Amino acid sequence: MTARARSFAIGETDFLLDGEPFRVLAGALHYFRVHPGQWADRIRKAKQMGLNTIETYVAWNAHEPVRGEWDATGWNDLGRFLELVAEEGMHAIVRPGPYICAEWHNGGLPVWLTALEGVGLRRSEPRFLEEVTAYLERVYEIVAAHQIDRGGPVILVQIENEYGAYGNDTAYLEHLVRVTKDAGITVPLTTIDQPTDQMLRDGSVAGVHLTGSFGSRAVERLETLRRHQPTGPLMCAEFWDGWFDWWGNTHHTTPAAASAAELDALLASGASVNFYMFHGGTNFGLTNGANDKGRYLPILTSYDYDAPLDERGDPTEKYFAFRDVIAKYAPVPDEVPAVSGPAPAFEVALEPVVAEAAASGSRHELPPTFEQLEHLSALVAYEADLDGTGGVLRFGEVRDHAWVSVDGVSVGTLSRTRHEDALVVPAGRSVRVLVEEQGRVNYDVRLGEPKGLLGPVTLAGEPLTGWTATPIDVAALGASAVDAATGASAEAGVAPFVLRGSFTLDDPADLFLDTHGWGKGFALVNGFLLGRYWSSGPQRTLYVPVAALNAGENVVVVVELDRVADAIARFVAGPDLGPLEE
Ligand code: GLA
Repeated sequence: MTARARSFAIGETDFLLDGEPFRVLAGALHYFRVHPGQWADRIRKAKQMGLNTIETYVAWNAHEPVRGEWDATGWNDLGRFLELVAEEGMHAIVRPGPYICAEWHNGGLPVWLTALEGVGLRRSEPRFLEEVTAYLERVYEIVAAHQIDRGGPVILVQIENEYGAYGNDTAYLEHLVRVTKDAGITVPLTTIDQPTDQMLRDGSVAGVHLTGSFGSRAVERLETLRRHQPTGPLMCAEFWDGWFDWWGNTHHTTPAAASAAELDALLASGASVNFYMFHGGTNFGLTNGANDKGRYLPILTSYDYDAPLDERGDPTEKYFAFRDVIAKYAPVPDEVPAVSGPAPAFEVALEPVVAEAAASGSRHELPPTFEQLEHLSALVAYEADLDGTGGVLRFGEVRDHAWVSVDGVSVGTLSRTRHEDALVVPAGRSVRVLVEEQGRVNYDVRLGEPKGLLGPVTLAGEPLTGWTATPIDVAALGASAVDAATGASAEAGVAPFVLRGSFTLDDPADLFLDTHGWGKGFALVNGFLLGRYWSSGPQRTLYVPVAALNAGENVVVVVELDRVADAIARFVAGPDLGPLEE
């Protein structure tokens, strides 16, 4: 089916669809946070809430984790995602970054890029510009073909992301605009910034329409935006209707009624909106980001966000409250999504298995970073000879969490969040430090920083040199567990401890894996890495999308770094995202 070409433009007062005033009612849905088998379902539910547009970022590091190995298939099939949006009769907004923030690891930038010695991020630094240009050209090859003036759904493309919160290099923004236009993007371009005068000034660029990001005080924020964008439609391009969570904290929610009242104020003023998020989804695998403004705070696996459509794709109270508000301003479809019943609850016994990641160790004077090892997974085991010495073992910095053992006996942990960099080790033959990279910073100046054991290492005040570094690929380890022999006790030896269990499903449905009783680690189902779990909470269940399950035999694998109190995988009736702030 070839849809007819239409026009979308920015007029003196409004967005114009085929020349007629048009209000954008958009919702954020990141294709890289939702199983592709569930994209269509989530898009349809956005339409049923009354939305006419789907907005997505593009995550560069999902498409090109290894330099030059570009992928746009499966989970990365942006073209397919846009086709599904079109099939639902909706429009699309694409935000390709290159920086996207989004609580996504490294703010979307590939590790190979941020690891380039001396590369300048988010500014006019020649190597950065060269790589960004090549990336954008690839993305725009997909996006250009799906623009509205070619019969596709795309009506707007965003340049960078909240640039005014980071820098003021206008030439960099101008370069992005040039690359975008040269690549055949003809729809209007936007920037987004938090509505302060400084950010709107530094984040904007001539000829590109300004929008704002905020979740409250809509009228006041729109006034600020209006000072910087004197003509054309006003748009809250990220209406924060919930918030993200991080390990060690409580679970954030915002009352549906308060959020709906903000929405009402926004729509009453005539503005366009993009709900951030409409449906948050999940930081599957090892994709969560982190914040660090003096304290390192890694983001949870769940990106439920307290959004109107929850992590499993169910409408919430907020969904219906928003739908009611939207109905005051625009027609909404009659049909509404059903709420799922309780998920199947059952228990699976786990057995320890002897799984091994294939990698071998390499020798180094000082512990190499994950970047130097070109290791993209979450674990590296570092080992050094102690030659019978004990005392204070001190690192420059631990990024981000370490389990220290001497001669196979655990002696303690070091946490970056707690600013720990030293512990006392007993005299022994050798020390082993297993380091977990817990998520790459996605906001502000620590973007792109290296992982592992940083800086000098001393033992009893003397330099400790001569290290073996063994990268451990968590996904490969989990996958190898499926066929590994059972045996070793999960309590014996040093982490990671791998456990496995199997279960049969006649009629697969979304599941929730309870992680109470486990310490810190990763869980996989049928080789699909669900993400991280941690007893520090708040999240205590992992969402298992139905699309990852089989009718018949299924295998659950747990890779534990700390301790397994309970060798059972419990599937429970619903999510537990943790206690709320009182
Ligand atoms: C900003 C960013 C988004 C996201 C939100 C918070 O608005 O633009 O990517 O990080 O903050 O969730």
